Amino acid sequence: MMRVVTQKTVGDASVLEIAEVERPTPGHGEVLVKVGAAGVNPVDTYVRAGAFALLGEPPFTLGWDVAGTVEQLGEGAAEFEVGDAVYGLLAFPKAGNAYAEYVVAKASELALRPPHLSVEEAGAVPLVALTAWQALVGRGGLTAGQRVLVHAAAGGVGHVAVQIAKAQGAYVIGTASAAKHDFLRSLGVDEVIDYRHQDFTEIEPVDVVFDAVGGEYAERSATVLKPGGVLVSIIPGNPGFSAERAAELGVRFELFGGVAPSAADLALLPQLKVQLDHVVPLADAAKAHELVESRRTTGKVVLVP
Ligand SMILES: NC(=O)c1ccc[n+]([C@@H]2O[C@H](COP(=O)([O-])OP(=O)(O)OC[C@H]3O[C@@H](n4cnc5c(N)ncnc54)[C@H](OP(=O)(O)O)[C@@H]3O)[C@@H](O)[C@H]2O)c1
Repeated sequence: MMRVVTQKTVGDASVLEIAEVERPTPGHGEVLVKVGAAGVNPVDTYVRAGAFALLGEPPFTLGWDVAGTVEQLGEGAAEFEVGDAVYGLLAFPKAGNAYAEYVVAKASELALRPPHLSVEEAGAVPLVALTAWQALVGRGGLTAGQRVLVHAAAGGVGHVAVQIAKAQGAYVIGTASAAKHDFLRSLGVDEVIDYRHQDFTEIEPVDVVFDAVGGEYAERSATVLKPGGVLVSIIPGNPGFSAERAAELGVRFELFGGVAPSAADLALLPQLKVQLDHVVPLADAAKAHELVESRRTTGKVVLVP
């Protein structure tokens, strides 16, 4: 048997509860991972609340980010050995089931944990880093020498997006409240903007905007793009912009709908520093959700069984 976090109904964070269920068995091409840490992302809270019905009706177990140890190999999972330290984004947007003591994962979605990351740090990485990589480099085409504005730069996605942008050789400008500016500088951010007291549209023009806020930020951000520049939004529910509006302004718009699991992309990431805002026991999943829902965390929140 094993402990998991489950919910019988959608609702606020208090619907999350611990249950005892049978430990799953890995099938063909799968491995059983003993969970060391499971990252908590805003999308987890939307699904828990019923705002985003990715998993259908409850009961279900949330969690797409995992880091841990290979406990058992399914048939044909020759990539790994029992005891390997692994991490990955599981099955997104289908059920990942990572808020648990053990989880079954496709071997093709797992990579070996980078040795510089603790298990808690690695559990925080996959969804945010794959989002930043696939959106900023894949869709935005960010290259060396370009200037990029990253919104919500101290958040889960933002704090890895700025590091990926620096590793690409870009000049990076990040928005965050003033208390987080030293943190952003420690990640290599070249220019910081206190969005609460400073108008970010006053910066010199940029080639790329990475928008992790959405709404009215998008239209304002488009005004700081160079002609032909690109606005990449990861807020499909409220992008505040459109391809038609981009065409009128002589810029490009890329709406990044959803991150895709990819061990190959994990292998392309630069060496990342991971900021853990809170490490929370599995039994306190509700607290972890409330922290993420505050939208004030710095870096990431992870659950540990
Ligand atoms: N499309 C996709 O596949 C995809 C993937 C991942 C995430 N997302 C979405 O991207 C968004 C960000 O995700 P996340 O995990 O990075 O969230 P997060 O970690 O909860 O973001 C928290 C951070 O946002 C900052 N912030 C909030 N409002 C801001 C504003 N107006 N300007 C600048 N910074 C602001 C906060 O800094 P301050 O305290 O300084 O304000 C805080 O550090 C979410 O809406 C999420 O759903 C989409």
